[in-house]
Amino acid sequence: AAKPKAPDAKPEGAPASAFLAACRGEKPSHVPVWFMRQAGRSLPEYRKVRQGVPMLESCTRPEMVVEITMQPVRRYGVDAAIFYSDIVVPLKAIGVDLDIVPGTGPVVENPIRSVKDVESQLRDLEPDDVSYVTEAVRGLVGELKGTPLIGFSGAPFTLASYLIEGGPSRDHRLTKELMYRDPDTWDALLGRLAKIAAAFLRVQVQAGAQAVQLFDSWAGSLSRDDYERYVKPYAAEVLDAVADLEVPRIHFGVGTGELLGEMADAGADVVGVDWRVDLADGIKRVGSKRAVQGNLDPTVLFAPDDIIKAKADAVLKAGSKARGHVFNLGHGVLPATDPDALARLVDHVHAYEVR
Ligand code: CP3
Repeated sequence: AAKPKAPDAKPEGAPASAFLAACRGEKPSHVPVWFMRQAGRSLPEYRKVRQGVPMLESCTRPEMVVEITMQPVRRYGVDAAIFYSDIVVPLKAIGVDLDIVPGTGPVVENPIRSVKDVESQLRDLEPDDVSYVTEAVRGLVGELKGTPLIGFSGAPFTLASYLIEGGPSRDHRLTKELMYRDPDTWDALLGRLAKIAAAFLRVQVQAGAQAVQLFDSWAGSLSRDDYERYVKPYAAEVLDAVADLEVPRIHFGVGTGELLGEMADAGADVVGVDWRVDLADGIKRVGSKRAVQGNLDPTVLFAPDDIIKAKADAVLKAGSKARGHVFNLGHGVLPATDPDALARLVDHVHAYEVR
């Protein structure tokens, strides 16, 4: 197989990536910014392209994936693109019967609750299972002209939660019940999901993605003790399994203020910080060895412009004390967000002087 490109590979004459520099703790030319869910329903051009095409089907059409991934890059001039796909795409690709229901999220037909379910429903992911991902990433690398592409995967706990609950859950009760009651099934399930997640990240990096983000979106529902014992080893396994690719690894979850030290310790290069945490405190918890990403409250974008700017300035000022800072929201862009407010925010972040 072809050796993956060096992480800093860029077209001749293109400026070094501020995003990659910040991830590595090097001084960037400006504070880099991108937004989780920057591609999606907040953009009229996204809604237009997606018309009549189910979410999961759209992820299997490389031309559509390239177009949707490029839309926010063109519109905002963000410093990184996030690959348009979903955390359940690799599960669908190995045959799990699931769908993404608009307004709800992933729904699984036959929830996994025993070792037998794990063995009958989950096998290893092979690159050929997601050849459309490889094709789309290759297409994007050409279109992006040096702007890095972030590949991503759901982390084992977050994927397990959908598989066990059968859909989104507020309290993750069935997931935790299985975790406490049946450690053998838990280990079999999370072990298998760790391999699938690592394989999905490898496919994206080998096709040209220059960074990866591991989304443990729902890990914030766990106590630190339970996170450390039942979840962290599997997140660490995924991060470790892609360490040899030498691209920055970002690790993020919602409501994980109390887990930041542990999430950093799982082995990421950059730790995503949720908006509930004061970024200065978040930086202390993450420590001086890793960069941080975040963390403006996504609902601040509904505030008057002067408030958006003041809140962004507070994030920028706190971020300047980190080993590296990638500006982002504390979670995804809300569908009702005005794209013009995001455009002004990108300009505001880019105008901030790096010291
Ligand atoms: O810009 C991007 O971030 C685009 C790529 C992306 C999507 N999903 C597209 C998507 C990424 C990185 C994801 C990851 C994802 N998917 C996560 C982790 C990130 C996070 O938000 O914490 C999770 C938990 C999922 C599961 C999922 N898929 C949810 C909760 C939803 C939303 C359900 C809804 O309708 O509100 C989806 C569907 C989904 N994934 C949409 C998009 C653009 C919306 C569906 C649509 O447009 O019809």
